[in-house]
Amino acid sequence: MRKNIVAGNWKMNNDLAQTETLLTALKNKTITSDAEVMIAPTFTNLWSAYNTLKDNAIEVIAQNMHFAENGAYTGEVSASMLKSVGVKTVILGHSERRAYFNETDELLAKKVDAALASDMRVIFCFGEELADRKSENHEAVVGSQIKNALFHLEADAFKNIVLAYEPVWAIGTGETASPEQAQDMHAFIRKTLADTYGADVADSVSILYGGSVKPGNAQEIFSKPDVDGGLIGGAALNADDFFAIVNAF
Ligand code: G3H
Repeated sequence: MRKNIVAGNWKMNNDLAQTETLLTALKNKTITSDAEVMIAPTFTNLWSAYNTLKDNAIEVIAQNMHFAENGAYTGEVSASMLKSVGVKTVILGHSERRAYFNETDELLAKKVDAALASDMRVIFCFGEELADRKSENHEAVVGSQIKNALFHLEADAFKNIVLAYEPVWAIGTGETASPEQAQDMHAFIRKTLADTYGADVADSVSILYGGSVKPGNAQEIFSKPDVDGGLIGGAALNADDFFAIVNAF
C-alpha cells in the first residue's frame, strides 16, 4: 500500500540560525498521523538539519541535484555529495527549476536516472501553467511531463519515485486547486501510470499535491482518494502550520 507523505520545501529561505530555530520547533512537535514527514532546507543547511533530526522521524531531503557524479559544474551538487550529508531523497523538476533555470524534461530524465543509480528516492514535480488549464490542455501537459522524464524507467524503479503534482498557478499564489481538481488530475496521473506499467505499479506510487496547501485546506485535499499527501512551500516555514498539515490525515 502506498504511503502518505508530507514534505516541506523551504526553497531559498532560512539562513543557518533561522534553520536551527525552525528545526528546534519542529523537533518539539508530535506526528499523530500516518504521514511520512520530510523537510528540504537549502544545501548549506542540510548537514545541520540532518544532525539535529537524525533521531527524529522527520527526514531531511534536498531540493535539487546535478546528474553528474563530480566535475567542472560550478555551483552544482551531486548525489554522492548529498548522500555524504545523510540525504536519501531529492526533489527534482520543481516548476521554479523549470522556469528560472531552464530545466527541461530531457535534463530531468538524466537527473532522475542519476538519483536512482545512487539509490536515492526522487520526488518528481510537474504541473501545468494557468494558460494550459484555461485552454483545457492541462492533462496533455502533465501527461507529457511525466512520460518524457520517467517513462524510460523499468517498472521496478517506481519503488523509489514519488510524484508531486503542482499546478504552477497555485504555487505561492494563495490560490489552491479545488479538492476536486486535485483528485481529477491525480486520478489521471494514476491512470497514465497504469496504462504503461499496470495497476500494481500505479497503485503503489504516492502522488502528492502542492500549491498553497495550508492548515485550513489540507484535510479536505488529503481526503481525496488519489491524493497521498502534499509538497508544502510557504506553510512549511512555520512549525505550527506545517504540523497542522502533517497531522491533517
Ligand atoms: O514546493 C512547494 C510548492 O511549490 C508549493 O508552494 O505551498 O508556497 O504554494 P506553496
